[in-house]
Amino acid sequence: MALAPHPLSVDPSEFPIRSNQIYLNHAGTSPIPRRSAEMLKTFADEVSGYASSIYGTWTKRLEQTRDAAAHFIGAHRDEIGFVKSTTAGLNLVGMGIAWKPSDVIIVEERTFPSNYLAWKAAEHYGAKLWYWPERNLRYELEDLEARLKQGGVRLVASTSAQFATGFRQDIRAVGQLCRQYGALHCVDAIQTLGVFPLDVTECAIDFLAADSHKWLMGPEGAALFYCAKDKLNLIQDHLIGWLGRENIADYDTLNKPPAASARRFEEGSPNVAGWMAMGESIKFLAELTPARVSEHNRSLCRALESGLEAAGWNVRSPRDEKWASSIVSATHDRVDYGALTAWLWNEHRIFAAVRRNALRLSPHVYQTEDEMARVVAAVAAFRG
Ligand SMILES: Cc1ncc(COP(=O)(O)O)c(C=O)c1O
Repeated sequence: MALAPHPLSVDPSEFPIRSNQIYLNHAGTSPIPRRSAEMLKTFADEVSGYASSIYGTWTKRLEQTRDAAAHFIGAHRDEIGFVKSTTAGLNLVGMGIAWKPSDVIIVEERTFPSNYLAWKAAEHYGAKLWYWPERNLRYELEDLEARLKQGGVRLVASTSAQFATGFRQDIRAVGQLCRQYGALHCVDAIQTLGVFPLDVTECAIDFLAADSHKWLMGPEGAALFYCAKDKLNLIQDHLIGWLGRENIADYDTLNKPPAASARRFEEGSPNVAGWMAMGESIKFLAELTPARVSEHNRSLCRALESGLEAAGWNVRSPRDEKWASSIVSATHDRVDYGALTAWLWNEHRIFAAVRRNALRLSPHVYQTEDEMARVVAAVAAFRG
């Protein structure tokens, strides 16, 4: 079927996946734009043809990626470290802070497992977890403030959007509360970064981790970690190695201080291919601008939400734009979601997901409302 023109003029050749399916699992793993795929191929050719004789070219591209990532979130380049996953970034904080037995860490009651496990480990050092209750599939700021008021909170671990329900947190408001009550603010941003604008200073963020394979449209295993400059020394030197120290080319000195920047978290040889490709994806999204991406993605989601509702579904992800993300979650009391998603794939080449006993549809910027209308029509036609 012919593709409708794209309102943001995204070149269809950047996303060959559009010619074989309607992919609605960007909250899981995104396709990467063609330019990022080209970077992976370039690296494959370069490493087989030249190996480390052209390492300088790779270093330059990696440093450009650091600049692009810093600019994307309003950080300084010295505050960006490359890590392998969101999980790795969260663990750097959870295992790196010298917790005291009186410390309280606020963790969302039903977060992604990594954003619980990283803090659970802090219990070994005596810290205590307090679970921010989920009410009507939301995390209310009043609940957070009430707990902060009681005192003792050292860190709030927030999530920019809940992976199953699509609830998007007001990260700026959480950050302001953290500042007001003297708590550190660590954000798992994987479910919004690439779609919704985010500025680490405005949102009073001390630490942030986000892998690139979801909304940032990079390859898996290539993530960014932000650590505010004045918090670098809060993370103890426990995951260390030659690449994260000063004077890396001095191989003869064993005992060297950590790099003065967030490069200190890059302990060993880099994921050159992945991080360079992540850089291309970030540049692609930066050119579109997060403000236009979020606007476009929400229009796609609204088309899904109203279409599903008209077909008798209950949309449980927030409809209020303040709390809505690029994740649509919907339920239907007579539908077997597993059977539906299998049928959508087999009959219509529509790839959807099921999370927390609901259908999860997560469109991204290169898609169009025309494609969303086809998805709604297909779901409505399901007779499982
Ligand atoms: C909110 C959230 N955090 C963390 C992760 C895991 O990310 P990674 O595999 O990069 O550690 C996911 C993956 O679905 C997620 O949805």
